[in-house]
Amino acid sequence: MKELVIASNNPGKIREIREVVRGIELLSLSDIGFTEEIPEPFHTFEENALAKASAIYSATSKNVFADDSGLCINALNGAPGVDSAHYSGKRDDEANLQKALSELKASDDRSAFYKAVICLMWEGEVYYFEGICEGQIIEQKRGERGFGYDPIFIPAGYDETFGELPSDIKNSISHRGKAVRKMVEWLNALEE
Ligand code: IMP
Repeated sequence: MKELVIASNNPGKIREIREVVRGIELLSLSDIGFTEEIPEPFHTFEENALAKASAIYSATSKNVFADDSGLCINALNGAPGVDSAHYSGKRDDEANLQKALSELKASDDRSAFYKAVICLMWEGEVYYFEGICEGQIIEQKRGERGFGYDPIFIPAGYDETFGELPSDIKNSISHRGKAVRKMVEWLNALEE
């Protein structure tokens, strides 16, 4: 079976990725004994995903992928975007979500999208896979599922938030689900 490291310490992301990937052995950073913080200093998802994947590849020479993702709110010119994980100034999902709600208070345009960019480093080469999920930001949070901004995000075509929808539905339409499936298809095609 192919082996692949996930360059993330975010338990929400890792859980969702494990639910989507089949037929590949996924190793977490703790599985490979990597404990350092990986910096994400850049202004695009692509650059941050590459920074995370290449930090692990240079340290371990193992095939690895990183997901850099975030919520882009149109009325806020795409914020929080690449700063989603620490929008409030700290890595705190509740504080970040409340900041997004308060910044949007005066706005009629509640449209937003999640974006995920995966950077895969496979046998030393770099590949990117992307997924987008469009939706709306509601005024008060609903639901306990998912992570991050999920309780305030309703995906297009649904009435419930990602905090309310079961994870198999989220995975089938989410930015991360789409990007991960593209990567898995690419990896599976290597054998053909
Ligand atoms: P990263 O670790 O820099 O990629 O940060 C990702 C951040 O974006 C997370 O900490 C969340 O705040 C937000 N985010 C990304 N994907 C999701 C999702 O599927 N649900 C909720 N929040 C998400």
